[in-house]
Amino acid sequence: MSGFSADWLSMREPFDAAARATSLVAELRRRIPRGTSAAPLEVVDLGAGAGSNFRYLATRLGGEQRWRLIDHDRALLDAALVTTQAWASARNADVSPVGAELTLHATDFACRVGGEPRDLAHNALGGLALPTGGLVTAAALLDLVSTPWLETLATRCKAARAAVCFALTYDGRTVCTPDEPEDAMALDLFNRHQRLDKGFGPALGPSAAVAAEHEFAKFGFRVLTERSDWDIGPQHTAMQHALLDGWLRAALEVAPEHTTPLTGWHRRRRIHVDAGRSRLVVGHVDLVGWL
Ligand SMILES: C[S@@+](CC[C@H](N)C(=O)[O-])C[C@H]1O[C@@H](n2cnc3c(N)ncnc32)[C@H](O)[C@@H]1O
Repeated sequence: MSGFSADWLSMREPFDAAARATSLVAELRRRIPRGTSAAPLEVVDLGAGAGSNFRYLATRLGGEQRWRLIDHDRALLDAALVTTQAWASARNADVSPVGAELTLHATDFACRVGGEPRDLAHNALGGLALPTGGLVTAAALLDLVSTPWLETLATRCKAARAAVCFALTYDGRTVCTPDEPEDAMALDLFNRHQRLDKGFGPALGPSAAVAAEHEFAKFGFRVLTERSDWDIGPQHTAMQHALLDGWLRAALEVAPEHTTPLTGWHRRRRIHVDAGRSRLVVGHVDLVGWL
């Protein structure tokens, strides 16, 4: 089990898909060879969770692909294959299990996809085979990792001459509307929580997007970035409540002495949501790169 439930990843999937920078994926597609049956595009998805990044990218990359979904949470990897099977059927794709993998044939792409349970924390990335000349990708992962981990990732991607696509890296910008006096304090505490060790060393948190751009450029990658903010309107009450509850939990963990102002803030923010007048914008950055 990780701290990320399949329910939460499923709830955020449509917001992620709506936020992602389509122009970067289109540029990436121009820069990497289209996979064929003789030479499928090899893709490794780090911290793949329940497969949302796969479902977003596979159709947009097209051609023949072979995906390895890496995560330390077996239950999420199982959910990834179950959800993907239903997703593929709904798209009228042919889908069949082959051993522990799925094979999919659709009009716009064909692929094999399988889960690989593996703990990527600390130095474990060093032992992971990356696809030579392929694609290394991750979504909503880089804010959890540390500077040395990111440096190892860039070193390994360069050695494999792999292209990269890192989506939805949280960058610390959050705007709550209408505003409340404690918004800045709550956000600051949440951002402090984001920097705690998530298993990869002290987390980059809100500085991960800038750090990734810098690190991959340093290793000679041509890097493009674009904002991919969640814009969660008043109609999305469940998502707003889930976010506010998560922010409160995180803020209380780092500053229990601020329980009174934080719970008051949370109660008033929830009232805005229930009254249908709340909007939450959460800053993310997408990055693609190639050598
Ligand atoms: C925010 S979730 C993103 C999941 C997925 N990429 C998505 O976009 O829905 C972060 C993922 O990283 C995984 N993760 C966290 N720590 C990990 C570790 N040490 N090794 C492997 N995976 C890890 C979690 O299990 C989770 O699936």
